Amino acid sequence: MTVPSPGAPARGVFVSFEGGDGVGKSTQLGLLGDWLRTTRHREVVTTREPGGTALGLELRDAVLHGGHVSARTEALLYATDRAHHVDTVVRPALERGAVVLTDRYLDSSVAYQGDGRDLGAEEVERLSLWATEGLLPDLTVLLDLDPAVGLGRLTGAPDRLERAGAEFHERTRRAFLDRAAVGGERWLVLDATRSVEEIQERIRARAAAVLDARPAATSGPATSGPASSETRR
Ligand code: TYD
Repeated sequence: MTVPSPGAPARGVFVSFEGGDGVGKSTQLGLLGDWLRTTRHREVVTTREPGGTALGLELRDAVLHGGHVSARTEALLYATDRAHHVDTVVRPALERGAVVLTDRYLDSSVAYQGDGRDLGAEEVERLSLWATEGLLPDLTVLLDLDPAVGLGRLTGAPDRLERAGAEFHERTRRAFLDRAAVGGERWLVLDATRSVEEIQERIRARAAAVLDARPAATSGPATSGPASSETRR
């Protein structure tokens, strides 16, 4: 499979939130969005995968609540959702100069399908890069938590992925951490056992730095960068 070169530069800023189930991604994403709207006066688009579009909601239902699907089918369903999401929501918003905050993106596929389902991280990453024409976030916030704690926080009937078992979720946690460790400056890794306020403060500080470094009129989304130190506590 040929991985495309990164698509046309966009002017906005693209931030993804990653981590296991129940780590608090949507809470942190919502708080950051409100803060950016009120203090930075930017257009902020909050979205998620899977299910950030009408087609995505159907795909989400199929992958999380349908009957058995093979690991490859699962990977393709997430990639299909991502292709459509990027094409119809994320890129148009970035081209308008908006800040796009997504609850999960490509790194979820690499961790869950690449490592969790053992399909191979590189292959799954290539699939998503092909689906998105190479779009990577400017900043990826990884909220790290023991999966037993995260899954224990969830209410309601578990979906197909949440039922995948302790070992599967341990593998995905490790995959996220390993990827962040070599993934360069786009990653901010935070200990999700800290208070909501403390985590949010750190996310705001990093997001502000990314926004300041990418003036709205001339910047483009990140592509794979060199490895550098991660932020972790
Ligand atoms: P999410 O919407 O975060 O779950 P919830 O609504 O329960 O908070 O994600 C749904 C599940 O999909 C989650 O278990 C992670 C999984 N997932 C993948 O396995 N691969 C992917 O590429 C994505 C985006 C999600």
